Amino acid sequence: MRTPIIAGNWKLHMNPTETVEFVKAVKDQLPQNSEVETLICAPAVDLPALLDSAKGSQLHVGAENCYFEDEGAFTGETSPKVLHEMGVDYVIIGHSERRGYFHETDEDINKKAHAIFKNGMKPIICCGESLETREAGNAESFVEDQIKAALKNLTADQVASLVIAYEPIWAIGTGKTATADQAQEMCAAIRQTVADLYDETTAENVRIQYGGSVKPANVKEIMAKKDIDGGLIGGAALKPDSFLALAHYND
Ligand code: PGA
Repeated sequence: MRTPIIAGNWKLHMNPTETVEFVKAVKDQLPQNSEVETLICAPAVDLPALLDSAKGSQLHVGAENCYFEDEGAFTGETSPKVLHEMGVDYVIIGHSERRGYFHETDEDINKKAHAIFKNGMKPIICCGESLETREAGNAESFVEDQIKAALKNLTADQVASLVIAYEPIWAIGTGKTATADQAQEMCAAIRQTVADLYDETTAENVRIQYGGSVKPANVKEIMAKKDIDGGLIGGAALKPDSFLALAHYND
């Protein structure tokens, strides 16, 4: 049984004061972890406030990125070792904004996945095609290649414990959601890719989220799909009421 995971990706929003206010508003109303796991991934500068205010609650904490080295002369980067020491559980890697604006490659993403596991955390590996790729009919093979590259040399146990987020670029922040059927189709293809690379058990255990304009109004339909185990949510995860509605999609 895969536990659904509803995750906020705050991107470059919120400051520490707003973070504390957000957590205060949601923390006593979250579902139990055994029903739905909830998670906020915040900018690095907000993580101390997020960790401190979420302590003792059901809310997990994630970073939005990290480097693949623990320390060294890498000005401006964030250490996975320190994220773990602080108490961070998850790290998003390979978001299309990082691939696009900051030129992250599949190879970087794979190195980051290894570094995150080495430091006792779990990666949320993002993948997803552009509109151009979809219209050319190459979406599935494009996403499969991203997944194969990101998972390179990870063990089956590691893959079974991580999260993959399918986020078609054309649906992010555009209000243009993939239909629940389109999302299901790709999430099933991703699970099949994991089965081909590893085995059926690993594929049955890996959790696959859909992301791209998920909101309270469409979350239920998306979450009803067989291969969709959660949402990675930007805009609709910035307000406590909206995040709570997403977390309680099944009530
Ligand atoms: P959105 O962002 O929900 O605002 O579309 C999703 C994401 O980029 O993770």
